[in-house]
Amino acid sequence: MTQHKLIAGNWKMNGSLAANEQLVRAIAQGMGDANCTVAMCVPAPYPEQVNRLRSGTKIELGAQDVSRHEQGAYTGEVSAPMLREFGVRYAIVGHSERRQYHGETDEAVADKAKAALAHGITPIVCVGETLAEREAGRTQDVVKRQMAAVIHVNGHCISEIVVAYEPVWAIGTGRTATSEQAQEVHALLRAQLKAATPHPERVHILYGGSMNAANAASLLAQPDVDGGLIGGASLKAPDFLQIIAAASR
Ligand code: PGA
Repeated sequence: MTQHKLIAGNWKMNGSLAANEQLVRAIAQGMGDANCTVAMCVPAPYPEQVNRLRSGTKIELGAQDVSRHEQGAYTGEVSAPMLREFGVRYAIVGHSERRQYHGETDEAVADKAKAALAHGITPIVCVGETLAEREAGRTQDVVKRQMAAVIHVNGHCISEIVVAYEPVWAIGTGRTATSEQAQEVHALLRAQLKAATPHPERVHILYGGSMNAANAASLLAQPDVDGGLIGGASLKAPDFLQIIAAASR
């Protein structure tokens, strides 16, 4: 789809006050009048700092998770209204690392997307198959199942979400899906969204998994790749800036 692309950095559990300041300043300076939306999804303690640093720039602020609950006895959780108070505009939900290490189910992910939307935060919903699932020919079933849960809980609001296709075997491994592999799954997701909303073209479908300065342009050139969710390369200003440049063409 031809639309303004979205490039979201996922810092994961990296950063410090000093390192964040350097990185945000370098990106803000280097991106100029980028012709795409740029977001940085920062660890839970840092939204206030990054919100301050990004002020006056075109950088949007994101979180890496959000609670499915609004408030109450949920020790360790951070709610959507809390994030909103610190200028957070996006929240990653259902990242494979959270599904894998924190037992997040499809239902929990769907509820998190709903909680985000209820408070004006755009959820970046991650879906993707493991290597074993791909090799067993189950890629389509897995991503469809993950997506169906989110559609089921969010109904017509589904056109407000962002989707990120992140094959688990490509995350942090240096092994990227080919542009064709990515496009195939993105087209499948678009078709699934079409059955749920009259405006499937409005939904940004991002690719994530070892996207870098060298492969970004060809991935982003695919008709259904509307941007990227970038881990490792989002921590290096020159690399992230090259991806932003590729998305601005
Ligand atoms: P990566 O991570 O770019 O380091 O592979 C992407 C992600 O996990 O969102």
